[in-house]
Amino acid sequence: MISRKASVLRRPVAVAALLVLAACSNVAQAATYTMYRDPGCGCCLSWAGHVEEGMEAKVASVDSNDMAAIKTARGVPQELWSCHTMEVDGYIIEGHVPTEAVAKLLRERPAGVAGLSVPGMPLGSPGMEAGGRNQPYEVIAFGPGGQRVFASYP
Ligand code: CU
Ligand code: CU
Repeated sequence: MISRKASVLRRPVAVAALLVLAACSNVAQAATYTMYRDPGCGCCLSWAGHVEEGMEAKVASVDSNDMAAIKTARGVPQELWSCHTMEVDGYIIEGHVPTEAVAKLLRERPAGVAGLSVPGMPLGSPGMEAGGRNQPYEVIAFGPGGQRVFASYP
């Protein structure tokens, strides 16, 4: 981890990108990130690592053996279910949502949106890296305003 960070910091372009990301996520830094996950699943921890890095925040991980109940209680539509479910700043983040989409949600707080989901477990999404294999996927916003595509990844 330390050696990887050190090598990144030697590249000026990467440093600039990190600074931009840090500036964008300032608002969200104070928020509490709580991720519920099945203890038998590992990709959620990998995803949480992305969130911690991208949002410069700590993600608390809570094990649950009844993720269906967790999701249902938080109003995640069943067709949008993935593995883990995170609460942050009054929003629900379901599945392997990229950090930039989470940051955009917390920044813009669009009307009628209760949360974001990447349904299923698409290969190549954050935490689902699979040796360069990438499936196209969409981030879906859901809530009282219905469902819509919030972001697309090729
Ligand atoms: Cu997963
Ligand atoms: Cu998982």
